[in-house]
Amino acid sequence: MVKEINVVAVIGAGFMGDQIIRKTALKDYTVRFYDVNPKGCEKLANSLTRKKKRNQIEGEVTFHEKLNEAVADADLIIEAVPEKLELKKDIFSQIDKTSPPNAIIATNSSSIAVSRIENAVERKDKVLNIHFYNLTSIPMADIMKGSKTSDDTFEKGKKWLESIEITPLIVKKECFGFVFNRVWRAVKKECLEIWAGGYADIEEVDKAWKIYTKMGVGPFKIMDAIGLDVVYDIEMSYYKESGDPRDKPPQLLKEKVERGELGLKTQKGFYSY
Ligand SMILES: NC(=O)c1ccc[n+]([C@@H]2O[C@H](COP(=O)([O-])OP(=O)(O)OC[C@H]3O[C@@H](n4cnc5c(N)ncnc54)[C@H](O)[C@@H]3O)[C@@H](O)[C@H]2O)c1
Repeated sequence: MVKEINVVAVIGAGFMGDQIIRKTALKDYTVRFYDVNPKGCEKLANSLTRKKKRNQIEGEVTFHEKLNEAVADADLIIEAVPEKLELKKDIFSQIDKTSPPNAIIATNSSSIAVSRIENAVERKDKVLNIHFYNLTSIPMADIMKGSKTSDDTFEKGKKWLESIEITPLIVKKECFGFVFNRVWRAVKKECLEIWAGGYADIEEVDKAWKIYTKMGVGPFKIMDAIGLDVVYDIEMSYYKESGDPRDKPPQLLKEKVERGELGLKTQKGFYSY
């Protein structure tokens, strides 16, 4: 436990929010959450309350029907609503007005630097990017400051991550893609170019990756699991950020997505399932 953090509020309990709630509740934190769509939220809270009774988790979890109630006594608030800048700004502003002035507000955004959101709040020294990966299998998170974030806020965020057994990946200077997303993006980009340029088959690339890294799967299998529509959108966001034509994802990938070959979820992507 981090001394100054007892109550953690999560705003948005979708794919990522759900994982952040569960991971935090494993430790002795009070976890409060809010989602505009309450479907499934009571169920999640009840299931975690049962786990608490059976001593399977240490934390206490409650669902709140109003954002202000979820953040009223929070020390740390994680925003995990959809990837839309204006929505995130609105949520940050609501949190700023209704949470204790000392509370830290972090965004789980995949691509929006908190420096683009910070103008929505008064407490510009207490905001962070905390970008989680899929917590069921990848226990790490990028952590990045806004333009006015204090060292104290950053340290608390880092210690909180360590307390829930997530390895913090320190971003020293603001950058698009944080730490590991950027590394993975470079791998992905080269793989896509090898495929689209006809330089080698996907099987060769995956085979090489597996031998080299000793991982059980290669980049093309991983992209199929993520979803090729998601991969395409992410590549487009890098392209929009840089404006560099070399960052534009291959036309062949776009065509695959348009044909509905989205990977595992449609049984066909780079591979057939
Ligand atoms: N999906 C991933 O693999 C992944 C990984 C890392 C980071 N992220 C980031 O996490 C954030 C959430 O992504 P996700 O995949 O969990 O999305 P999601 O669509 O699964 O969940 C978003 C949740 O926010 C809720 N919501 C929408 N508007 C709201 C509002 N005004 N107030 C409260 N709740 C609201 C929705 O009902 C939904 O439950 C995004 O910023 C995304 O970029 C996603």
